[in-house]
Amino acid sequence: MRIAAGADHGGFAVKQAVVRHLRAQGHEVVDMGTDSGELSVDYPVYGHRVAELVAAGDVERGVLVCGTGLGICMAANRHKGVRAADCTTPYLAEMARRHNDANVLCLGGRLLSDDEAWAIVEVWLATPFEGGRHQQRVQLLDEGGAA
Ligand code: RB5
Repeated sequence: MRIAAGADHGGFAVKQAVVRHLRAQGHEVVDMGTDSGELSVDYPVYGHRVAELVAAGDVERGVLVCGTGLGICMAANRHKGVRAADCTTPYLAEMARRHNDANVLCLGGRLLSDDEAWAIVEVWLATPFEGGRHQQRVQLLDEGGAA
């Protein structure tokens, strides 16, 4: 799978670990930065970079990491067609795929160890969207208004 990754300084270490794992598994990773955990940067920049690639169809999925996963997820969700979910457990990642067809996974670099983060990514990659009754709901995310 072709996957874009991005993080701010608070998510840098976990992003690096996730990128390593993804590449080891044969995924093509487009790393959109940041490239250091030392320099303080703005999380929306990286959220937007990755979300733009997902929205354009240049990549199938995106993984974003900031300190909590919250801010970078908010940035990503500004983009039409992007369904970004901040997941702190494998169960949330499973549900984000099954019911919400989440195409961007957000992680909290200050909340998760590298191993915990990878366990969440693995579930998110392996779980299909259920479709069915969830399909229309997911469509409504971009359409807005009442059903
Ligand atoms: C940066 O200190 C921190 O605010 C950021 O990584 C993230 O947690 C924002 O939601």
